[in-house]
Amino acid sequence: MRRPFVAANWKMHGTASFVEAYLEDWRKTGPRGVVDVVICPPLAYLDRVAAAWGDHGVQFGVQAVHAEPSGAYTGEHAAEMARDLGATYAIVGHSERRQLFAESDAVVAAKFVAARRAGLMPVLCVGETLAERRAGGAEAKVLAQLDGVLGRPGAKALDADFVVAYEPVWAIGTGETATPTQAQRMHGTIRARLGEVGDAFAQSVRIVYGGSVNVDNAEALFTQTDIDGGLVGGASLDAAAFAAICRVAGRRTDS
Ligand code: PGA
Repeated sequence: MRRPFVAANWKMHGTASFVEAYLEDWRKTGPRGVVDVVICPPLAYLDRVAAAWGDHGVQFGVQAVHAEPSGAYTGEHAAEMARDLGATYAIVGHSERRQLFAESDAVVAAKFVAARRAGLMPVLCVGETLAERRAGGAEAKVLAQLDGVLGRPGAKALDADFVVAYEPVWAIGTGETATPTQAQRMHGTIRARLGEVGDAFAQSVRIVYGGSVNVDNAEALFTQTDIDGGLVGGASLDAAAFAAICRVAGRRTDS
C-alpha cells in the first residue's frame, strides 16, 4: 500500500504573522502519522516554518529550484540551499513555472536531477492545458512531460523515489476540478507508463492530483485507485481546511 501524500503549495503567499497563525491552527487540527504531509512555503519563510514547526509530523518542500548548485544566477536559489533551510522535497515543473517562467521539459528534467543531487525528493508536476484536452491531446502531453524526466540520463527513475503530481492546467486556481473519473484515467495512464520502467517501481510511486482540491471534493478524488493524495494550492492557505484534506487522504490507509 502506498502511503498517502499531501503537499501544500502556498505559492507566493504568506507573511511572518501568517506563518505564526497557521502553525497555531495546525497544532490544534493537524493529523499525525497516517499521511505524508509536506508544506511548501515561499523560500523566504522556509527556515522559519521548519524551525517553528518542530515535531508535528510534517516535512517541508521548496516550490522551485535552479538546476545549478551555484553560479551567477541573480535571484535564483539552488536545491542545496533549500535543503540547508530544511526542505526534503522540491516541486519541479509546476505549470506556473512552465508557463510564466518558460521552463521547458529539458529545463524541468535538469531541475529534477538537481533536486535529487541535493538529496531532495522531486514532486514532478505534469498536466495539459484546456486546448490540449479539447484537441484530444491530454494523454500525449502528460506522457511527453513524464518522458522528459524518465528518459534523461541521471534521472533514470528505477531507483528514484519521487512523486508525480497530475495537475491539469485548466483546473489550477480556477475552482474547476477534473472529475474523479477523468483524474483516475490519467493517473492510470501515468502509472502504466511508469510500469514500462518496472512493475514494482510503478506500484510504489505516489501519483497525486492537483487542481482546485478542497475539503468538499477531496474524498471523491482520493478514493480513486491511483490517486494517492493531492497537491493543494488555494485551500492549503487555511490550516484547518488543509488538515481536513490531509485526513481524507489518510483514510486511504484505513481502507
Ligand atoms: P490550486 O493549486 O489548488 O489552487 O488549484 C494547485 C497547484 O497549483 O499546485
